[in-house]
Amino acid sequence: MKSSRQHLPLLTVIILHFTITFTPLQALKPSTHLKPEVVGQLGQQLFEAANSPEFFNWMVNIRRKIHENPELGFEEFKTSEVIRTELDKLGVEYTWPVAGTGVVATIGSGEQPVFALRADMDALPIQELVDWDHRSKNAGKMHACGHDAHVAMLLGAAKLLQARRHELKGTVKLIFQPGEEGFAGAYHMLKHSALDNIKAAFAIHVEPLRPVGFIASRPGPLLAGGGRFTATFKGIGGHAAAPHLSRDPIVAASMAVVALQQMVSRETDPLESRVVTVGQINGGFAANVIPESVTIKGTYRSLSAEGLKDMKARIKQVLETQAAVHQCRVELEETRLPYPVTVNDEGMYEYVKTVAEIVLGKPKVQLMPVAMASEDYSFFGQKMRATMFMIGTSNETHIVPENLHSPNFVIDEEALKVGVVFHAVVAISYLDRYDDGLATNHEEL
Ligand SMILES: *[C@@H]1O[C@H](CO)[C@@H](O)[C@H](O)[C@H]1NC(C)=O
Repeated sequence: MKSSRQHLPLLTVIILHFTITFTPLQALKPSTHLKPEVVGQLGQQLFEAANSPEFFNWMVNIRRKIHENPELGFEEFKTSEVIRTELDKLGVEYTWPVAGTGVVATIGSGEQPVFALRADMDALPIQELVDWDHRSKNAGKMHACGHDAHVAMLLGAAKLLQARRHELKGTVKLIFQPGEEGFAGAYHMLKHSALDNIKAAFAIHVEPLRPVGFIASRPGPLLAGGGRFTATFKGIGGHAAAPHLSRDPIVAASMAVVALQQMVSRETDPLESRVVTVGQINGGFAANVIPESVTIKGTYRSLSAEGLKDMKARIKQVLETQAAVHQCRVELEETRLPYPVTVNDEGMYEYVKTVAEIVLGKPKVQLMPVAMASEDYSFFGQKMRATMFMIGTSNETHIVPENLHSPNFVIDEEALKVGVVFHAVVAISYLDRYDDGLATNHEEL
């Protein structure tokens, strides 16, 4: 482990960076630039639209259609088609394909400032166990992370924004993103020019542990960054009764799994959050045979870029050293592009929180604890000011709701109304507020 003194120069750079980039926005109180009565009235009008049975049923039907046909990362062909069909009906222009199945719709003047709203589109390899009329028709696939709702809410926002397109003081891009669940779809989309020159972005994630009507987030680090690895220990197979003639990869892999646990318990500052988990281990085929190889798969997470870098290097060292101790070899592979830490831009967080307090009421806006889950929305934060908020989806009939990624995951669709209004009011008010010179300050630097 590095000493804390060695961390200092980097810390100074980070603080300096934050000072230069973020002070102008933070120094100006967002609430003084937002006109609460204007935002409040806008929120009310948008809620009226979202509450109309015609609008709400349309949005619910889209969500259910996508829920019935879940598609995994970069295979969202039908989902993408549903999105494009609805955008065509609304008369909204879009760029497609962006990173395979991705769609980027554009509403407004086409000029700066450009504000982005993002929804992810892919499902999980889970067999749905919920017994309801619109359960998944694709065996072994399920929208258990609410991306079906995310798409429906963003299409809803497209409809609300399109109706006001002549009043927008700039441009809103609606980003329908493939491959969030481990495929780094955000990273691949951000390479496309359709996502250049965006000032700021906002995303919503459903949250089944919170009631409908409540929203939550926090400034700064929100979700962990993380990577995945696969390590194959290679030894020499042989008769179980003659271990001295073999090189046992089962013992090597077992010791490596145990050794990895010390990285968090013995090497990490107890006040810092890190995780290493080995979630899969495969090897051997008989009780009396020492196999040739054993494969383990795992994930590591941290709330800082430096933590991720440290962990990656230490995992390699621990695995290689443990393999050597047992006279085996190890082949290590990073099995996906590591996701950075999801960090909410502090100025954007304050802005969205203020809007939410006006539209939903202060008691409905909560501070969320940091979670060690990860999200490829973090890549947006590396290219623009970005913030993500969670919206509650549980109700009194779900006292103990199933969490995200559960085969029993359900949402109360009433939450779609909150999400769609929240998307639209955040985008419209951002463009209004930009004229106040706030974001201009940022640009001058
Ligand atoms: C709660 O949500 C479920 C959908 O998941 C719905 O069936 C139920 O009617 C809702 N209950 C209330 C009281 O709104």
